[in-house]
Amino acid sequence: MTEMMPVTDARTPNETDQNATTQDTPAPKKPVLPDAQTVTSVKHWTDRLFSFRVTRPRTLRFRSGEFVMIGLMGDNGKPLLRAYSIASPSWDDELEFYSIKVPDGPLTSRLQHIKVGDQIILRPKPVGTLVHDALLPGKRLWFFATGTGFAPFASLLREPQTWEDYDEVIITHTCRTAGELHYGADLIASLKDDPLIGEMIGDKLRYYPTTTREQSPKMGRITDLMRSGEVYSDLGVEPMTPETDRAMICGNLDFNLDIKALLEGYGLEEGANSKPAQFVVEKAFLD
Ligand code: A2P
Repeated sequence: MTEMMPVTDARTPNETDQNATTQDTPAPKKPVLPDAQTVTSVKHWTDRLFSFRVTRPRTLRFRSGEFVMIGLMGDNGKPLLRAYSIASPSWDDELEFYSIKVPDGPLTSRLQHIKVGDQIILRPKPVGTLVHDALLPGKRLWFFATGTGFAPFASLLREPQTWEDYDEVIITHTCRTAGELHYGADLIASLKDDPLIGEMIGDKLRYYPTTTREQSPKMGRITDLMRSGEVYSDLGVEPMTPETDRAMICGNLDFNLDIKALLEGYGLEEGANSKPAQFVVEKAFLD
């Protein structure tokens, strides 16, 4: 597991409080935190995973697939922040996040208890490499995720550009247990009824969920299933080539390195915002 350095901020709450009112107007709910956003829904998927939605700062623009720093005020009075991929698409009114619960994690041990109406801190500075701009044009787009690494793809799957730019989109999601697939499975099931992209998707989407520690229709690490060729025969598609295929990877560090090596074995090259190429990688940050 990877622990990012906490980002601290010494600003006082009043320095970012934009909600000053006069006596004539009813007082709106005042942010008590710097960059405060209000929680609008919370859903617990398993004892290890939950998702939540918060209000979106009116000025926040982001590209589907990017992440922001979010968190809570620490006991020392300084913000305790972590990088979280935005799971909602860039056009959504709210922001959605998908998180692991680490029992002794500095942030998630507390964040997992948030309720509707609570406030979190959200720094409105989106960044990240899992963006369409970092890939050269191609025909087939692969999303490779483990666990909460599904989050940026939950955003990109609801992004019209994904369906405009590619003939086929294949998403693989490897989790320990079947319950850990539910967030992704529900989201994928909802896409066909999505008013914005439902029709654009048509029959372009292929979903390939696998589990490694609990029985499910497809067992195994995606890396092993690629090496054996099983994923290609299961889906009835050709193996990846640098001419046709593009990929985005988001999982734990070892997973990212293993998939990267496999893709490089197929002749694909890693890209970045500054130098688009055939695949991009982002770590799913854990607490
Ligand atoms: P496994 O159960 O064999 O470790 P985690 O919750 O530890 O982040 O893992 C999420 C999923 O990713 C698990 O199913 C795990 O399989 C799988 N996984 C972890 N590391 C790798 C890797 N290097 N390559 C492929 N899959 C991996």
